Amino acid sequence: MVLKLDRELLLGSATAPYQIEGGATNTDWHQWCQIPGKIKDGTSGEIACDHWNRIEEDVELLSKMGHQVYRFGIEWARVQPSAGAFDDEALERYRYEIQLLKDKGIKPLVTLHHFVNPDWLMEKGGWEAADVADRFERYVRYVVDGLKDLVDEWITINEPFVYMVNGYFYAIWPPGKNEPFTGFKVLRNMLHAHVKAYGVIHQIYEEQGQEVKVGIAHHMRIFDPHNSRSPLDKMSIRLVNRIVNDVVLEGMLHGRLLAPVGTGQPWGEGPFCDFLGLNYYSRDLIKFSFNPKNFFMKILTHPTNPKNDLGWEIYSEGLYRLLQRLGRYDLPIYITENGIADGTDNQRPEFIINHLKVVQRARDEGIPVERYYHWATMDNFEWAEGLEGRFGLVEVDYATQKRTIRSSGAMYAEICKSHEIAEEMINKYVK
Ligand code: NOJ
Repeated sequence: MVLKLDRELLLGSATAPYQIEGGATNTDWHQWCQIPGKIKDGTSGEIACDHWNRIEEDVELLSKMGHQVYRFGIEWARVQPSAGAFDDEALERYRYEIQLLKDKGIKPLVTLHHFVNPDWLMEKGGWEAADVADRFERYVRYVVDGLKDLVDEWITINEPFVYMVNGYFYAIWPPGKNEPFTGFKVLRNMLHAHVKAYGVIHQIYEEQGQEVKVGIAHHMRIFDPHNSRSPLDKMSIRLVNRIVNDVVLEGMLHGRLLAPVGTGQPWGEGPFCDFLGLNYYSRDLIKFSFNPKNFFMKILTHPTNPKNDLGWEIYSEGLYRLLQRLGRYDLPIYITENGIADGTDNQRPEFIINHLKVVQRARDEGIPVERYYHWATMDNFEWAEGLEGRFGLVEVDYATQKRTIRSSGAMYAEICKSHEIAEEMINKYVK
């Protein structure tokens, strides 16, 4: 039996600048990595995959893997190293990379903010500052203006909720605070910055008489009750769904701020996105608890289902459930990330197949999923997990910077090229 994937579904993979490029030492993440104990294996993104110096080789790998699309990001601190100065050479280097991609027939989707901030921005209060949306807008104007002839799809901000929760609730990412209410302000500022950037980008393309698509890459999760008969668990689920999934969704769709982040539609009615970017990884089980510090809930993992190297449940049906949910809005859906930490590569082939199966199922039901970007193209710096969270279709030996396409990467290449998942493929690659 062969599963055919629609040709309209474009396939590729994704990365983020700090996680692969190396060299961004003028950032909050670089400073964070210098603090002992913050990164599990004591590493940093100082060199990472040295992608900044290996652009040609890495574009060649994408092409070898038959990619039609590639999502990557611009490092803010690189193109705007100080509040008052932009670095044209850095932007030129990104132009060069994009041109290489286009020469290979690979369509770029470019992220403008992926968790990392310039030092100078942090000195001015980072995402807590009242005027951060204006600062972001200036940077966005510069980048988009400089790349508009090569790029027509943008992600303004990657995973605003995750940035907020890890930086302001769990304190495991910079700025390392445990201040949920400051976190809510940060999330509000990020949504505001997105709305502004959305307007600016559209204005720039309109002046050119060109089309553009702009969105957020939104991390959404599935939450199921720990005990399906417990009304308290179900109540906690309503709360967690709102905070994790709905706040960002409502903000980018309708400009609407939901409590506890805000109220009303302070910046207009929207819509403020041209596609729904979905980053999907896993599911959590939610159990009510009397502890107000954790918003009256415990977040648990399924006790027996298979997990990835980081302990996240592997649950492809969750992707289907989220696609059904997003299918209610009349917008194209891009799966801007989906992947697995799997150093042995034993689980990744099956993971890819099962997730692509549900994507096709959703399409068969009329849900407009147009893209699938596997996370990640290559192993990279996995934030607090360090270099050992291995998400790559391509394995990276950090001592030598040697890249090797994993077996899953070879399989994915076949799928990208043929848009088919054949029985022989399953026999060959799935362990
Ligand atoms: C989502 C984030 O955007 C990305 O930076 C991260 O590496 C993956 N999740 C895996 O955790």
